[in-house]
Amino acid sequence: MAPPCGGILKAAMALSGAQTAGEMGPSSRGGSGSSAGKNPGARPVEKTFYIETFGCQMNAHDSEKVIGTLEHQGYRQVQSEMEANLILYNTCSIRDKAEQKVFHRLNDFKKYYAAGKRFAVLGCVAQQEGERIFERAPYVSIVSGSASYRKLPEMLRRLEAGERHITGLDDRQTEETFETEFTRRSNPHRGYITIIEGCDKFCAYCVVPYTRGKERSRTGSSVVGEARRMAASGYTEVQLLGQNVNSYRDPEGKLSFAELLGAIGELDGIRRVRFTTSHPRDFTRDIVEVIDRVETLCDHVHLPVQSGSSRMLQAMQREYTMESYLERIAWIKSARRPISITTDIIVGFPGETETDFGQTLDLLQRVQYDAVFAFKYSPRPNTPALAMPDSIDDEEKSRRLQRLLEKQREIQRTNYANHIGQVMEVAVEGFNTQRGQVIGRSSQNKTVNFSARQAIFPAPGSYLPVQITNSFPNSLVGEAVQ
Ligand code: 5AD
Ligand code: SF4
Repeated sequence: MAPPCGGILKAAMALSGAQTAGEMGPSSRGGSGSSAGKNPGARPVEKTFYIETFGCQMNAHDSEKVIGTLEHQGYRQVQSEMEANLILYNTCSIRDKAEQKVFHRLNDFKKYYAAGKRFAVLGCVAQQEGERIFERAPYVSIVSGSASYRKLPEMLRRLEAGERHITGLDDRQTEETFETEFTRRSNPHRGYITIIEGCDKFCAYCVVPYTRGKERSRTGSSVVGEARRMAASGYTEVQLLGQNVNSYRDPEGKLSFAELLGAIGELDGIRRVRFTTSHPRDFTRDIVEVIDRVETLCDHVHLPVQSGSSRMLQAMQREYTMESYLERIAWIKSARRPISITTDIIVGFPGETETDFGQTLDLLQRVQYDAVFAFKYSPRPNTPALAMPDSIDDEEKSRRLQRLLEKQREIQRTNYANHIGQVMEVAVEGFNTQRGQVIGRSSQNKTVNFSARQAIFPAPGSYLPVQITNSFPNSLVGEAVQ
């Protein structure tokens, strides 16, 4: 299952065919488009870039927009740092480990700088650390948080004009969203659409409100317009993205979140609509009702709970109790189609007792999630929880994480086994040629590996009925139905 916001996704997003390219040394930069430099006989120096993305689906999609923006500015994407003259890291700071990884990688830049390469640090670490990045890594040229990506063309022009240090940092003031017609989606069949950016929830442990700016929604008409254009160009699956999609407020006041889901699900050509992540506080019953009514809305809800203890939820400033969370779970479970439920959990938050943790284990038993993304609490800069003593030592956090994952594995073993014998529609995503299997995904977002009796594998992006014959805790096995 794909990781949610802040998950383990790390995508090297180099897409296009690699070709060698000239370097954009300080003297060869200037103007937009390919620049000829000062030597009239020389071939124009091509502007090439390499981008690497860390973190969540929001970051993955931001990178798609950044790639499109760069291409529009005359840059060409290449597949390795060696070939590129501009290297961009789109970073994640949700947990300390993710952030350390970025700083570790920044060390590599030093050796490339002398060769004329230039560097941009984008995303959450950029916004969080700001100009301190220039102190730590003076060879970085651009530091920009996601709320400033609209200014990327201008930042690139300044870079090409030879400016040393360029910042795009937000102070939670921006009302603008980053919408661009140049998005370079990496998959031709299913694509992301951002509907809401930023976060105003300020959970006690979380950096996102500080790194992604304040909560701001796109207009319903622009979201539906983008989905319609995607459908017209062959996309059959869209995934609506936001830190909290269901906190969506149409600035034009026309569509509620549930109505937006319905409008997109009813577009010609759209076969699947997903949305992530939902916040329990803002999860309303009409979301379940629209899933019931519009079949293209996938039967999956990712509803991060973080803890099974109301005491911990209060300390985490989550703004709901276990009772209200369970009420929402009951709505989802009463839907006409079985809806798969997944969640995020933090173990070892300051003050979490064995009793609190036991309540989280009880919650797993009660909800029977199809997937749990569980994390050890990691103290983050600027957050209120930083002032609380990090009272659970790392070994104990690891033990709790292990116990939780073991329990969840058994729950998933049963959940997945319950599908044996069913026939489900599977979207083809790729192949495992060694095993001779097709890899696909169900509407519930479960991975299905199946064999097809045809000599030729079915095309990615096609939908097939598959009979489930076997299962594992994280995937299903089946056979295409003729
Ligand atoms: N420590 C550990 N996990 C965290 N998350 C967010 N902040 C932290 C933190 N400081 C987790 C939450 C969230 C997911 C994306 O990352 O579970 O839902
Ligand atoms: Fe972070 Fe809470 Fe906002 Fe989610 S809702 S992004 S956990 S502050």
